[in-house]
Amino acid sequence: MTNWKVAIATATAFLGAQAVTTNYTSSTDPTKIEVPDIPQTTSYDVNAECQYYDSPFAAYDKASWPTTWEIATSNNMNTSKEFTDLYNSIDWTKVPNIQPRKLDANGGLDMTTYNVPQDTDCWWSASGCMTPKAEGINADIYECPEPETLGLTFDDGPNCSHNAFYDFLLEKKQKASMFYIGSNVLAWPYGALRGVKDGHHIAGHTWSHQLMTTLTNKEVLAELYYTTKAIKYVTGLTPLYWRPAQGDLDDRVRWIATQLNLTAILWNIDTDDWAAGTVPGITAQTVDQNYKNFIEMGKNGTFANSGALILSHEINNQTMDFAMQHYDALHDAYDHVIDVATCMNISNPYVEQSITFPTFEQYAKEGAGSATGSGVSPAGTDGADSGAFSVHSLTNGPLFIAALFAVLVFA
Ligand SMILES: *[C@@H]1O[C@H](CO)[C@@H](O)[C@H](O)[C@H]1NC(C)=O
Ligand SMILES: *[C@@H]1O[C@H](CO)[C@@H](O)[C@H](O)[C@H]1NC(C)=O
Ligand SMILES: *[C@@H]1O[C@H](CO)[C@@H](O)[C@H](O)[C@H]1NC(C)=O
Ligand SMILES: *[C@@H]1O[C@H](CO)[C@@H](O)[C@H](O)[C@H]1NC(C)=O
Ligand SMILES: *[C@@H]1O[C@H](CO)[C@@H](O)[C@H](O)[C@H]1NC(C)=O
Ligand SMILES: *[C@@H]1O[C@H](CO)[C@@H](O)[C@H](O)[C@H]1NC(C)=O
Ligand SMILES: *[C@@H]1O[C@H](CO)[C@@H](O)[C@H](O)[C@H]1NC(C)=O
Ligand SMILES: [Zn+2]
Repeated sequence: MTNWKVAIATATAFLGAQAVTTNYTSSTDPTKIEVPDIPQTTSYDVNAECQYYDSPFAAYDKASWPTTWEIATSNNMNTSKEFTDLYNSIDWTKVPNIQPRKLDANGGLDMTTYNVPQDTDCWWSASGCMTPKAEGINADIYECPEPETLGLTFDDGPNCSHNAFYDFLLEKKQKASMFYIGSNVLAWPYGALRGVKDGHHIAGHTWSHQLMTTLTNKEVLAELYYTTKAIKYVTGLTPLYWRPAQGDLDDRVRWIATQLNLTAILWNIDTDDWAAGTVPGITAQTVDQNYKNFIEMGKNGTFANSGALILSHEINNQTMDFAMQHYDALHDAYDHVIDVATCMNISNPYVEQSITFPTFEQYAKEGAGSATGSGVSPAGTDGADSGAFSVHSLTNGPLFIAALFAVLVFA
């Protein structure tokens, strides 16, 4: 009798933990995407590209979404039935007991009261920690483990002015991981559709680009949930990967992301492209030099044992310009330049199984130096590999990262 009760209680707790209440809906079939030819989707003139356009997606019910570019609990989302149901379906007794961080007078993260050497919270911004210390949390991805391999990533899109850049990648048959901001996806839906159509790996980059460790549990949950909801609504895909703004995450943020089945992807080399001309001391020359160093590192043995994962941005035409200018040299310097899903053998980076990515081995077989194996492939061809991803295989990562921390400027 007692055993039965324990068994039932355990089963209920187990099912309870699984039954997180989400409401992701879409009428887009991600395998049949069409983007209309309008100046905003075809022009290379920033002014023409960035004109507002109407689309079927613009007709969303404004009352069931946060305000764009405000914390995702805005517009009463935190008291809506949908969000309350989601929040209440999570077992918050297990969330790591970490308080939201404070900002300092300059708007940066206040680390003065944090014990960095001890780093109990695995707070990346303070220590570079990427392997969670609390239980039951998805560990971060931060490198492409294959030697002499470069994982390409672009944050902050979809940007309205990306036509020339996406055409460039298409012409080079180059796939990348694109980290989209929820507010941008609703504002520029055809830009997000183009990313999927071109076979890029799409992941989330929060709703309003806040420093995640400064937010309350509800705010963190809302930032992640409504971003996934926006990407699903427009593209028909539910991403399982995300990246926090400025890499700011700790075990509390990771735990909340894990409840939504999200795994963070960080980086191990940073172009600082977004900062050129906006952060004192960082110029276009600084960014060009960063790219040149990473090109050199692709040739001089830095990545002989495990590869690179580069942070760059789709945020404006200047950052995309840097990427295009240095692309050929980067491509020549590394044996493989690929999206992160491919370099990590993540065949299913989305809940939907209709779009899959090749494993590294499948990609390599189809010819090194060409990325034709990346991106959209028919459903059911390689679903069996979806469990292959294992963070435990990332040997030497943290030591290598620590070494890089010493030489790189971080954003
Ligand atoms: C809901 O969010 C708003 C804005 O973020 C906040 O001021 C308010 O206190 C929140 N309400 C609840 C019940 O959490
Ligand atoms: C789910 O989302 C759809 C579309 O936003 C909405 O019409 C519906 O009311 C939502 N359902 C729940 C249970 O929140
Ligand atoms: C997370 O993944 C598990 C296993 O596939 C699934 O049962 C669960 O519903 C997912 N949770 C969410 C919030 O999507
Ligand atoms: C490789 O190049 C980088 C960038 O120029 C440099 O910092 C590093 O020391 C070099 N490593 C080796 C092993 O030569
Ligand atoms: C997109 O890029 C343009 C310039 O290319 C820039 O002016 C604009 O601010 C960017 N939009 C967003 C939302 O980042
Ligand atoms: C970005 O777009 C602006 C506005 O069209 C233009 O003045 C500038 O030259 C462009 N910059 C680059 C790097 O393409
Ligand atoms: C990807 O698969 C290959 C074997 O095909 C394996 O050697 C490698 O360790 C895997 N990478 C990861 C990140 O799991
Ligand atoms: Zn960003």
